[in-house]
Amino acid sequence: MLHKLRRLGLTVVILQIPAQIALGAAQSYGSISSAAGVYNSSVTPENLPWNTYNYCNAPHVNAKHYQLPVNAPNATLVYMNVVLRHHKRTPDNLYPDENELNAIPWNCSDFLQFSYGGGTTAIYHETISPPWHPFLSQIWNGTCDQGQVTQEGLDDAVRHGEDFWAVYAGELDFLQTVNEHDIFIRTSTETRTFQVAGGLLTGMDPAMATKTFPVTTQPSAIDSIPPDYSCPNADNIRDAYQSVPAWTNHLEENADLQNWLCETTGTTGLTAWTSWYDHFFDTFTSRTCNGHPLPCNSTGACVSEQDAAKVFAIGDLEYNYIWNAAVNATTYTQLTFGVFFIELTHNFKLFRAGGETYKLRLFVGHDGTMIRLASLLGLGKIAPLRWPAMGSEIVIEVWQVTDGEHFVRVIHEGTPVSTLAWVPLNAFIGLLESQIPEDVFQACMGS
Ligand SMILES: *[C@@H]1O[C@H](CO)[C@@H](O)[C@H](O)[C@H]1NC(C)=O
Ligand SMILES: *[C@@H]1O[C@H](CO)[C@@H](O)[C@H](O)[C@H]1NC(C)=O
Ligand SMILES: *[C@@H]1O[C@H](CO)[C@@H](O)[C@H](O)[C@H]1NC(C)=O
Ligand SMILES: *[C@@H]1O[C@H](CO)[C@@H](O)[C@H](O)[C@H]1NC(C)=O
Ligand SMILES: *[C@@H]1O[C@H](CO)[C@@H](O)[C@H](O)[C@H]1NC(C)=O
Ligand SMILES: *[C@@H]1O[C@H](CO)[C@@H](O)[C@H](O)[C@H]1NC(C)=O
Repeated sequence: MLHKLRRLGLTVVILQIPAQIALGAAQSYGSISSAAGVYNSSVTPENLPWNTYNYCNAPHVNAKHYQLPVNAPNATLVYMNVVLRHHKRTPDNLYPDENELNAIPWNCSDFLQFSYGGGTTAIYHETISPPWHPFLSQIWNGTCDQGQVTQEGLDDAVRHGEDFWAVYAGELDFLQTVNEHDIFIRTSTETRTFQVAGGLLTGMDPAMATKTFPVTTQPSAIDSIPPDYSCPNADNIRDAYQSVPAWTNHLEENADLQNWLCETTGTTGLTAWTSWYDHFFDTFTSRTCNGHPLPCNSTGACVSEQDAAKVFAIGDLEYNYIWNAAVNATTYTQLTFGVFFIELTHNFKLFRAGGETYKLRLFVGHDGTMIRLASLLGLGKIAPLRWPAMGSEIVIEVWQVTDGEHFVRVIHEGTPVSTLAWVPLNAFIGLLESQIPEDVFQACMGS
């Protein structure tokens, strides 16, 4: 609802955010207050600003809101790297008695799950939870596996590709056709990141729906995207800052909430659920984003919207603490994402040296990818970081000005980052390098 009051020539615009959608913008829970956000639809209601945080489908670069760099009107876009989180999916975490906590089955039979060896039959599989299965209590009914992109999530990926193309091909003519010489794609080894890459490409060019396209991965044991390479020294650093009051206070302050959630969902005493709110956050948002109700157990007790709103607020707080705000968070994040930063540095140095053959390098990753990238780029110094939403996007553009110099502009969830709105390429490469530990392997593994 937008009310315009015209008085004495002044226009006062009062934006009333419906209290429930804002999820308690004005509420606070102990010391934790929740920020505005959408958690139950990929479509942000029209009465909210277009770039409102939407956990189900983050805002991203789009033609309606894209602005050319103000600093250099004659600059030309010459290179870019883009990093995204995959789009919405089924829960990645399962309650011990998962079946009981789903009022409706999960249906994933609306798009085919292909996986096959080149040169052989195009095999696809459908998951079924057989009613007779002795372990059925551990999974929901229906045709979905855990962590699987839903049809709506795939639709969001296609739209994301369309929006991207409308700007970078349509408006800027930076890209002209979707082809593997201009566009390099790297994903994690998770199926959902392959599927989202396919959705993006089809959004960029519908003809891609019937074509093949290569994406690059690293061996899962050392993949730097999620990231999945082992780093025991980083784990120890994180354990230490999750053992101090700055962390444990919020668990104590919200013990009643946690006890209630654990009793209701059968997770009492399970540290994966009690050491942080990550699993509750995932299992609630996956449901609400995909039109499923919050969990109700067999005795009729349900997680309420208020409980969920509080968990969402705590989730933001925990993500910001672990990857951004804790005393040693930067060291932890540098160690666990230094390898990805080496890759980014290679890309921009290759471009600077005139050796880059791709126009666009596109990475499809996970929330752990986005939170580390945001933190190491310094976005958490501007405002606390929130849990990276589905489809979360960081675009790194390189522009050339008339005298040939290169400048970098970083765009986060569709909006240019104030501190990285126009940075000389050399300085940007310097920023990347400053976040890479001297010898990451030794720093992670050495005693
Ligand atoms: C999302 O939640 C808000 C607040 O509970 C509600 O007003 C709105 O109708 C919901 N939207 C959908 C699509 O369920
Ligand atoms: C931009 O380019 C036009 C045409 O080449 C030129 O007339 C104008 O002075 C340039 N503007 C700036 C700010 O460089
Ligand atoms: C699942 O979704 C597909 C496609 O929308 C639909 O045809 C099918 O009937 C659904 N299955 C169930 C059990 O609801
Ligand atoms: C799930 O399937 C089992 C076995 O068919 C059935 O007893 C149960 O009611 C189903 N639950 C839901 C929510 O459909
Ligand atoms: C942060 O790291 C320093 C240096 O290793 C260490 O002395 C300190 O205890 C750590 N702080 C926390 C809260 O973990
Ligand atoms: C359902 O939740 C209520 C409230 O937390 C709890 O008392 C009860 O034991 C739970 N029932 C089951 C079957 O888990």
